[in-house]
Amino acid sequence: MQDGFGRKIDYLRISVTDRCNFRCQYCMSEKMTFMPKTELLTLEEITLIAERFIGHGIRKIRLTGGEPLVRRDMKDVIQRLGRKVQSGELEELTLTTNGSLLTEYADHLATHGMRRINVSMDTLDPVRFGEITRGADVKVVLEGIKAAKAAGIQIKINMVALRDFNEDDLLPMAEYCATNGHDLTIIETMPLGDVGADRKIAHIPVAEFVAPLHDLYTLSPVAHRSAGPARYVSVEPLGLRLGMITPLSNNFCDDCNRLRLTTDGKIFMCLGHNAHVDLRAAVRKDGIASVDQLLQQALKLKPLRHDFNAQLEGSAEILERHMNVTGG
Ligand code: 5AD
Ligand code: SF4
Repeated sequence: MQDGFGRKIDYLRISVTDRCNFRCQYCMSEKMTFMPKTELLTLEEITLIAERFIGHGIRKIRLTGGEPLVRRDMKDVIQRLGRKVQSGELEELTLTTNGSLLTEYADHLATHGMRRINVSMDTLDPVRFGEITRGADVKVVLEGIKAAKAAGIQIKINMVALRDFNEDDLLPMAEYCATNGHDLTIIETMPLGDVGADRKIAHIPVAEFVAPLHDLYTLSPVAHRSAGPARYVSVEPLGLRLGMITPLSNNFCDDCNRLRLTTDGKIFMCLGHNAHVDLRAAVRKDGIASVDQLLQQALKLKPLRHDFNAQLEGSAEILERHMNVTGG
């Protein structure tokens, strides 16, 4: 698959639920309301649509949310898509999770072809963690990560950079990741959805956020690439691979390879634009074959770049969606 700008599209991110047991301040408002269950793609729909997309050249799938592991039939979703990895049709099936349910899921994930997962964790400090997630317990997440590692799954920690909130947490996080053999990726906050503006979600460029590392360590670019937009450096002699996702400070749209399937079955070609096609409506009305044509339409809709900087300044279209619906 190619979009209108000649970019090869082979990476699909599926948001399997908009629900979450956390309420991270940059992601949701405190009184977030969720979709009625009938709006969600069913297990069968997710599987059929994913198969169709694989037929068109998707090679990597990431399951996101919301918190994907709170979905009731999530074990079945993983099992069915895991078969595509086992058969070689998919190169990779991965997951972005808040980690809170990993203790229960670790073995299931490992058994069904999941080799790497991303766990979102913005601080190791229990008080700050409770604050940013509005009430979650970092200990439970750390236990979950341990279980996943013990099951043989490689871990990458995603840490959102928040000015005047978790800047001090970078060094302890880097040390924790290095000690435990996890990768660490720092992400700039993106202006998505109405989360109720708060001082805790002030933007900071990643380069500024990681500056304190330079006083202690040597950071050198490495060639490693994952399916996503992160750029990596090695941090020595700590022995850490550090990724940086810089949607605002350093645009990476030129080699974007992604499309997104939302919880309610829409294809969004970009996290930063409202343009989309409604796959669920077509599939429920005309059957699964309608995917083919809508996918072609979606590819043409893929914009050249996002407008997050303009959105931050208030001079571009407002994004009505929240991260939990479109998928992180
Ligand atoms: N900006 C940047 N990252 C975000 N995430 C959720 N909302 C935002 C936002 N507005 C992150 C989560 C998680 C991933 C799914 O996306 O922390 O790591
Ligand atoms: Fe839940 Fe992830 Fe959103 Fe936090 S960022 S509220 S863990 S979906």
